[in-house]
Amino acid sequence: MNHVEPLNSHHKHLAFTSGNDVLDRYLHEIAYQAKRKSLAAIFVAVGEDDPATILGYYTLSSHMIEGLDIPDVLRKTRKFPSHRVGATLLGRLAVAVHMRHKGIGELLLIDALKQAHEVSRAVASTCVVVDAIDEAVVPYYQRFGFVRVAPDSRRLVLMMDTIAQLFSHGVEAQTQESI
Ligand SMILES: CC(C)(COP(=O)(O)OP(=O)(O)OC[C@H]1O[C@@H](n2cnc3c(N)ncnc32)[C@H](O)[C@@H]1OP(=O)(O)O)[C@@H](O)C(=O)NCCC(=O)NCCS
Repeated sequence: MNHVEPLNSHHKHLAFTSGNDVLDRYLHEIAYQAKRKSLAAIFVAVGEDDPATILGYYTLSSHMIEGLDIPDVLRKTRKFPSHRVGATLLGRLAVAVHMRHKGIGELLLIDALKQAHEVSRAVASTCVVVDAIDEAVVPYYQRFGFVRVAPDSRRLVLMMDTIAQLFSHGVEAQTQESI
């Protein structure tokens, strides 16, 4: 069974290839520094049989978003202020190219939402924010309930109260059964 854990020095980060140079370079050259400097928390998916090989990774950081950037339909029903509010940035998400379409991205994304939700109980955060790397990947996030902040934007948000509902409906259990 695959699982997600924090990046550590036992992981073979230089061997990771997602097919996207920017996302690969981040893991090869920046991730450990970013972790040391507390710029991002980095989590990796690994398999039981080969726990040093990274199957995919994601990063989370604290972030600020203009209240007005939250889509009206989400902001007004919650009576959110228009000024800047706290959020959680899903800064990077990538799966090893040979492991695509096997549910690793879903495993990582659900884990990221779970982490973001748990942390938000201690340090409040209104939503998880992601900047889709290209237009093609936008539907991937929309499948999980992310909403574009504007019709022409690749920035998407998923409200923290929606994430809380996902977990109260057992999304985690369903996902783990399917992997
Ligand atoms: C996007 C990504 C993380 C998805 O991970 P994955 O493990 O392959 O995806 P899952 O197995 O969880 O889900 C697969 C389904 O998601 C959708 N999907 C996967 N990759 C997609 C993409 N790039 N664009 C749109 N839909 C995608 C498809 O519907 C796919 O179903 P299929 O397997 O029947 O074709 C992975 O393709 C990746 O690392 N891509 C390169 C880097 C990237 O674009 N990262 C996002 C940064 S914002």
